[in-house]
This record gives sequence, structure tokens and C-alpha cells, in this order.
Amino acid sequence: MSTTQFEHLFSPIQVGPMRVPNRICETTNTINSSMIPGEIDDHFRAHHGAKARGGTGWIGSETWLLNMPFPPETPDEVGLAVGFAAHYSVYQSPAFIAGMKKFVEEVHAAGSVVIVQLTHLSAVWAPSSVVVVGAQDYTPHVLGEEEIEFCLNTYADAAAVAKEVGADGIEIHCAHETLCYSFLSPVTNKRTDRWGGGPQERSTFVLEALKRVRARVGDSVALGIRMAGMEFRTGGAEHLEMREIAYHISESGLIDFFDIDVGHCWGAPSYVPSSYYANAAYKEVGKAARTDIDPKVKVLFSGRINDVGTAETLLKEGYCDLVGMVRAGIADPNFANKAREGRLMEIRRCIACTRCIDEAAEPRTFPYAPTCSINPLIGHELQWKEKFQPTKTPKRVVVVGGGLAGCEAARIAALRGHRVTLLEQSARLGGQLLIASKAPGRNDFEDQIYFEENEMKRAGVEVRLNAKADIAAVKALSPEVVVVATGSLPRVPSDVPGIDRPNVVQGWDVMQGKVSVGKRVAVISQEDYYETPCVAEFLAAQGKQVEVFHKSVHLGSEIARYSIGMVLRRMEECNVKIHPNLMLKAVHPDAIELVSSWGTRTYRETGFDSIVLVCGSIPQAGLYDQLKADKSVAQLYIAGSAWLPRFMAEATQHGASIGLAI
Ligand SMILES: Cc1cc2nc3c(=O)[nH]c(=O)nc-3n(C[C@H](O)[C@H](O)[C@H](O)COP(=O)(O)O)c2cc1C
Repeated sequence: MSTTQFEHLFSPIQVGPMRVPNRICETTNTINSSMIPGEIDDHFRAHHGAKARGGTGWIGSETWLLNMPFPPETPDEVGLAVGFAAHYSVYQSPAFIAGMKKFVEEVHAAGSVVIVQLTHLSAVWAPSSVVVVGAQDYTPHVLGEEEIEFCLNTYADAAAVAKEVGADGIEIHCAHETLCYSFLSPVTNKRTDRWGGGPQERSTFVLEALKRVRARVGDSVALGIRMAGMEFRTGGAEHLEMREIAYHISESGLIDFFDIDVGHCWGAPSYVPSSYYANAAYKEVGKAARTDIDPKVKVLFSGRINDVGTAETLLKEGYCDLVGMVRAGIADPNFANKAREGRLMEIRRCIACTRCIDEAAEPRTFPYAPTCSINPLIGHELQWKEKFQPTKTPKRVVVVGGGLAGCEAARIAALRGHRVTLLEQSARLGGQLLIASKAPGRNDFEDQIYFEENEMKRAGVEVRLNAKADIAAVKALSPEVVVVATGSLPRVPSDVPGIDRPNVVQGWDVMQGKVSVGKRVAVISQEDYYETPCVAEFLAAQGKQVEVFHKSVHLGSEIARYSIGMVLRRMEECNVKIHPNLMLKAVHPDAIELVSSWGTRTYRETGFDSIVLVCGSIPQAGLYDQLKADKSVAQLYIAGSAWLPRFMAEATQHGASIGLAI
């Protein structure tokens, strides 16, 4: 495909005083890439700078959180309550300013522009005493006049710093769970004074903030707002009212751009939509803004635009002037350059698993590092710069198993110059990813398999499919290095009488079409991530009546707050019934017996034709143990689920770091 196919994407655009070199925008994403709280450190610059060097024209990096104590000399109750005390006033600290200046210089050197987003979160103080996030019982403190005045001024103060560090644009965050959003929305703004009322009155706070920012920074910096085109909450400002607000704000002449997305916070869809949502599903909100407002004000639309083809079409068909592509750049910071150079097959496309936002919101890594399920570099950019070097001593490497861990080990080792053979027992690479991609709304997961298949060719890995590798087969290849990435197999709960009955089957087998099930299905769930929802939905999509008996407090309890709403809503929509806090005790000919996870009470449930197990998996390390005992291989590694079944990101990183170590 030639670059001319992306002529819209790669054409520059004037946004107020700011010339953006192309239409690709990293809208702000607080992935917490700095390892020094309150500073812009080398990790931050490596992470966001890579996107600029990779061809993204607009770099929004991470938000500047303005919440601070009020009055300023008091303890930071506001910051502590929103969980971001460390951010308090950071934008005023000399170290932060120095780091930011250096970052701006780097981005400018790459030819891109820097946009600073200014945010006041509203969970603790808000226009009215209405919970901002519906599913949480946290009623905010109602802002008084003095506090409103204080908040408005912080926008202007921070904007002055943004200008000082050399930012090309400033965006006031008026979407998601922010103070400006709370003023705009009819759900959260119930005021009867001058800050509340109809759409125009509710815009007063935002307009006042914009006026103060403009007065402070003048016309040499582009100014805009981020706003939700649709809220998706009962009583919220749905499309028409949002259009009215957008029109009213743009008519003020204060702004140069609208950055528009959808979703109010953690609902369904979240503003970081998962693979359950189509690419650019809500693009009409971009088109509406573009239709209504003065064409001088440019419209940026975001929301699951993960490939350059979709982005080009959106621009060509007039849905927006600029495209937000955040996770596209996390999955592959170089995607823009690759697209411009016509290297489309080399792009690693975001699969919208939402691990990046989940990790940022509720970290599971320790110490915390930004995380991507499919790009092992994320969060480790500096180490990779040092370690991803051509080898001085090319070795014969055999990788056994073509799941994510095996593929990444093979790919990285081969790119570094080793001679790699990968043995995969099935007919295709992908391992568990092949199974996961069969679930409704998960078909994009297959993109990562395509990526690995293409990369194996590009890196020169010899892939042998349908190759069952026992110890003799491995030794016959005389390897100097072996990586055992033989994965895991589904677990069968022990000590459950009747578990071997013919109507008890494994979820993985169901997904692969290896077994069939009857009309009424009981899913026994003993895992807290996506596997159960995927199996349940797969069955429901086949017209089965599905009931899940889940071991803990709620299904998907390890899925973080930005994503869980989308998962549970899907369960509701496909009529999956969920019974929490239950473990399987026995399978009888006519019933299943369950026991409370926390107590001793037992329950009998009848009428199920099939019982489907989703109970995690057991590492398959037999080959590794044999090779270890044999001692004939100089360097032996075990990678991915064969060592410990975890999640995609862990498999990717485990495999890739072995590829670096060889
Ligand atoms: C890790 C992460 C952090 C985010 N933090 C912010 C933020 O601080 N402010 C904001 O306006 N949007 C934030 N977002 C939302 C993104 O700007 C973007 O709108 C969203 O990811 C959808 O775009 P995409 O499909 O291109 O990723 C964040 C997204 C991610 C993935």
C-alpha cells in the first residue's frame, strides 16, 4: 500500500496559532510513565517522546492535575481524597518545569507539537452533591463561590506554566470525571445560581476558565477543551444538548479546537472503549461538532481508532479534522512512521484489551510500570535501549511453543541476530490467544497473531507448525539455547465427586468447538479475569441459557474500574445470570452441589444439561524438567504460562526479556 492512501492523515493542519505536522494525535493519557512522582523524568521522556519520534504529530502526554489543598496552607484533603496527593501543585515545582522543558524540546526536535491538558478532578468537590461516578457512593463537597474562584484561577496559573515550558497548545479537560464536566452535565450540576441552569448557564464555569487562561497566555498558544459528545448516563446531556454546549462555547471565540469523545467516566462504554466496541463507534459526535461549529475551530475525535485505514477514512469523510490514537501508539509508538513508509504489515495494532488503563488505574505490577499486553517495551523503554542490541555471538536457538511468550522470545532473539527455530504443535501460532479471539467482541485479538506471523518471517525465524517437540526432537536440532514455552492446560478442580461425568467439559474446549453443550449451561467460574465472561458470552451467543457460579465477590473482580462496567453490561445484555461466592462441591446425575466460598452452607441447583469449567490453568513444564535433568543444553529457559499462567502482558514480557537475555 502506498503512502498516498494516507494523504489526509499526513497532511499538516493549522489549529489556531499551532501548526500540527499531521493529523495523528496522542490525546492525553496519564499512564504514569514517570518513575519520580511529581517530575518529568527520563522514563516519561522515553515513553511519550518515542511517539513523537515515531511520527505522531500531536503529543498530549499526561494530564496536569490541578487539585490542591484549599486554602493552600491546609492539609491536602482534596488531593488525598482523589488519590493523587503526589500531583499537588507539581506544575509549579522547579524540577517539574525543568523536566517538562526538556520534554518539549525533544518533541519539537522530532517535529511534533506538545499539548498540555489541565484537569481538576471532581470526585471530592463538585457543583452539586451528586455522585460523579454512579457506581460509587461518594458524595462530593459542594463548591462555594470562594472555592470556585480558587479553582478557576488555578487553570490560569497552570496555563502560564504550560506556556513557559514551551507548550504549543493547552486543553482544559471538560470530559470524564472532571470538575468542568460536572458543571456541564445536567446530572451533576443542579445549581440554581449563575453556575447552573440550561446548557448555556452550565457552560459558564468552562467559559470563565477559558477567559482567564486566554487572558494569561494570549493568542500565541492554541486553546481547546476536551468534552464528551455523549455521556451515556440517565438524565445526562445526550447528543443534542452537547451539541448546543459545543456551539455555545465555540461561539465565544476563545477556543481553537474541540477534542471530543464519549462516555462520562467508568460506565459502558468507558471513554477508553474496549474491543467490545467497534472502531470509532461514536464517530457521529465528531461529525456533529464539525457540522455545528465555526470551521476555524478544529475537531479532534477519539475512541478506538486503532488503525491508520480507519483514521484516514474518518478524515476523508469529514468526521473530524484530527484523530486521537492513544492506544495505537502504546501498542506501537512507530505506527505513524511505518504507515507513512508503507510498512503496514509491521504495525502492531492495539487489540483494545484495556490493560494499559487498567494498570494505570489499579496497578498489579510492582514496582508499577506502564503496561501493554502486546508491546513488551512499554514501561521498559530505557532498559530496552540498552539491551536490545545485535548479539556478538549468534547461537542456535530452539523455542518450543508458539503462544505469545514463545513468539516474543523467538522474535526478539532473531532480531538480535540469533538463528531461531520455533516448534509449534498445532497448525497455527497464537496459543491461548487463538482461543480468546473466538469470544464475541474479541476478534481483534487475532491481530496480534497476524503480527507475530508476519514478524516471524521478517525476523527470519524458522517456524515449524504441527511439530510435536519431545526431548529427542529438540536435541536432534543441536540447540545451544532452548526456550520452553509450552503453555498450560485447563485446571480441573480437585476433590469434586462426579467431575468426570460426560456432561462436564472445559471452557477452552467449548471455545475451540471441540465439544458441544446442551441448552442450559452452568459455568463454574474459578478465575477473576476475562476468561469466564468470554466463555459465558460465547455460549450465550449460541443461544444457550447460561448461569455462572462464581467463586468470589463479583465476576471479573480483577478487571479494573475503567473496564469492568463494559464487561458486566455485556453479561446483562446476553442474559447471563451470575451467582457469586460459590464453589463447586459435587456433580450429581440430576444436579450440581455448591458450597459457599466463605461459609459452610451448601446449595443444590438442578436442570442443567452441561457444566462448563473455567478454573484457570496448570503450567506444562514437563519438557523443561526433562531438559534440565538431561543437562545437554547450555542455556535453558522457561517462559510464559509454562512457568506461571498469568495474563497476556506477562507472557509477552517474559518471552521478550528472554529474547533479550540470550
Ligand atoms: C492509560 C490511559 C490513561 C488515560 N488518561 C487520560 C487522561 O489523563 N486524560 C484524558 O483526557 N484522557 C485519558 N485517557 C483517554 C485517552 O486520551 C483516549 O481518549 C482513549 O484512550 C481513547 O482513545 P484510543 O482508543 O485512541 O486509545 C487515557 C487513556 C489511557 C489508555
